[in-house]
Amino acid sequence: MSDSDDDIPQLSAATLAALQEFYSEERDGLVQSTAPVDKYSVGAVEEDWRMSQFWYSDETATRLVEEVIQEAGKGGRIACLSAPSVYQKLKQGVVEGSDGVSAVVLEYDRRFATYGQEFIFYDYNEPLALPEDVAPQSFDVVLADPPYLSEECLNKVAQTVKYLAKGKVLLCTGAIMEEHAEKLMGLKICSFLPKHNKNLANEFRCFTNYPSNLMS
Ligand SMILES: C[S@@+](CC[C@H](N)C(=O)[O-])C[C@H]1O[C@@H](n2cnc3c(N)ncnc32)[C@H](O)[C@@H]1O
Repeated sequence: MSDSDDDIPQLSAATLAALQEFYSEERDGLVQSTAPVDKYSVGAVEEDWRMSQFWYSDETATRLVEEVIQEAGKGGRIACLSAPSVYQKLKQGVVEGSDGVSAVVLEYDRRFATYGQEFIFYDYNEPLALPEDVAPQSFDVVLADPPYLSEECLNKVAQTVKYLAKGKVLLCTGAIMEEHAEKLMGLKICSFLPKHNKNLANEFRCFTNYPSNLMS
């Protein structure tokens, strides 16, 4: 990937050390496998930081699902762009209203192809290389969490978002992207602070182009 390390969301030093220890134990066969997990549980697909994967905490994934369900409305369609935890949390059916909406996950990581027809392969480097049956402006809410904190990446993600969205856009990314989010998609920063399972050194925020509950 062409992006510099500076563009990648950074883990805190303590989290990094714990993760290195985990990978080392895994390599040495010390990590015990546990009981089978629900295929939609957040973490069913393990984070791979080489793909800039940092999953939301359960609380944040739930809060974002509540938000997209409310904004999509009954019968609404939701696109989760590089945000598989939101798709998974929605599909778990634990948030009220989950069964009244439909969702797809657009992802670069083909491990998510386990979700069948609802998985759409997506590489931000080719913003409009989508399957023919993905119609323009066909999603009531598009939620995106780009892999890199760079204008180049957000610019390309914005092209896909504009293609998919009927109107409402919810972006989760580093606070440092505020100016670009406003310039590229007219998004305003929310006060809600998204949290991740592993602590990130970068401050993350949500941005919307509609008056959102995440603003208060
Ligand atoms: C910062 S993470 C966002 C994940 C989100 N926090 C969640 O919990 O669902 C970035 C996401 O971008 C995906 N990704 C990595 N490379 C990509 C690429 N070239 N094109 C599109 N998405 C990519 C990763 O697989 C990951 O899901």
